[in-house]
Amino acid sequence: MADDRTDAPAGLEGRRLLVVGASSGIGRAVALAACRAGAAVVAAARRADRLAEVVSEAMTDGGDAHAHTRDVADPAVARQLPGDAAAILGGLDAVVYSAGVAPLAAVSAASADEWRRVLDTNVVGAAMVAAGALAPLQAGVTADGPRPVLVLLSSHTVPRPWPGLTVYAASKAALEAMARGLRREEPWLRVLTVIVGNTATGFADGWDPEAMGPAFERWSAEGDYDGTVSSAEATAGGVLGALADEGGPDEVALT
Ligand SMILES: NC(=O)c1ccc[n+]([C@@H]2O[C@H](COP(=O)([O-])OP(=O)(O)OC[C@H]3O[C@@H](n4cnc5c(N)ncnc54)[C@H](OP(=O)(O)O)[C@@H]3O)[C@@H](O)[C@H]2O)c1
Repeated sequence: MADDRTDAPAGLEGRRLLVVGASSGIGRAVALAACRAGAAVVAAARRADRLAEVVSEAMTDGGDAHAHTRDVADPAVARQLPGDAAAILGGLDAVVYSAGVAPLAAVSAASADEWRRVLDTNVVGAAMVAAGALAPLQAGVTADGPRPVLVLLSSHTVPRPWPGLTVYAASKAALEAMARGLRREEPWLRVLTVIVGNTATGFADGWDPEAMGPAFERWSAEGDYDGTVSSAEATAGGVLGALADEGGPDEVALT
């Protein structure tokens, strides 16, 4: 059987990473590949059973991984998360914020609660994790070491939101604006935005199957969706490659 595991990029050995949203999809693949590359990882998300599987797989490969069951929709929990990770790992060098939710609901149908759930996870959670990460990341700054990194995952749907994914795209637009502002507020910090394209993950697990067919038909007809889908491992390889590329751009598109 082919080994579709992510190639482990160089430059991660000995680095201490918090991966938020590590229980499935891209975050899971990032956590596992980072461990294989010699990083120590705190894997955070809500589902404890999934996190335990990730840690078990990482440790089978000889990795250094720790599960941390947390809900970033709780701002206090999200803000505390990087400090927790630093305590577990003995410091913190990078944070990958892969947590995200994406309901399939047009603006005409999305409730205020739905908007809040998306913004709480995709934007406020990311902001609280970023704020909580500043002190532990700054504590690890050295004269000749790599700059600490905060990686935020955005979406190719932002410039031209796909019908039914407008709530999601609006949240990612806010996330991208936060990244641009944070770069100016904290110039010592590398804030890396990775624009992700279609990737086979748990992203669409909660979508109504009856609404999905017409949505994909429309996206295909209107030129949004061309059937190209990456594996979580391939996308994770792109994320980690960008993270390890010290002199690379602040915004990287994997599409
Ligand atoms: N897949 C794509 O086509 C695609 C395209 C563009 C961008 N992206 C972005 O890539 C990132 C990863 O998504 P994915 O595709 O890998 O989807 P996924 O498989 O659904 O993974 C999402 C992760 O976020 C975690 N999460 C959600 N709500 C959370 C909360 N309140 N607290 C803590 N963790 C939470 C989930 O874990 P729990 O449920 O266990 O909490 C899960 O680990 C997201 O930011 C997404 O927007 C994906």
